[in-house]
Amino acid sequence: MIYITRRERFNAAHRLFKPNFSDEKNMEIFGKCSNPNWHGHNYDLFITVKGEVNPETGFLVNLKTLSKIIREKIIEKIDHKNINLEVDFMQNKMASTENLSIAIWNELEPYINKLNCKLHCVKVYESENNFVEYFG
Ligand code: NI
Repeated sequence: MIYITRRERFNAAHRLFKPNFSDEKNMEIFGKCSNPNWHGHNYDLFITVKGEVNPETGFLVNLKTLSKIIREKIIEKIDHKNINLEVDFMQNKMASTENLSIAIWNELEPYINKLNCKLHCVKVYESENNFVEYFG
């Protein structure tokens, strides 16, 4: 079994909040990520796939193909967008990095399964020091 990872980047806005809580209570629970007028993050997305090397090509997967899938299914929908308001796969969800990682997994898995590999990990860095890993 061999693993390979493709990184893609996106910038997006979000807000963590419960609509029935006051701004003060949201701020207490969610901190700066609850700013009522939104805010952005520079996200790093790492998609790791696993499988066996194709003896003819020496590749596990063509990284151009993997990158194209990630860009079409995720990056084009989320880059420079408001995650709460504009991203179809995040509708009716708290716009946390945890939920984002799970949603990205669910969006990508069917397409990655069609390649010669399986999805292993979705890793999302919300900031330099905070990241989430989801293994399905
Ligand atoms: Ni935030």
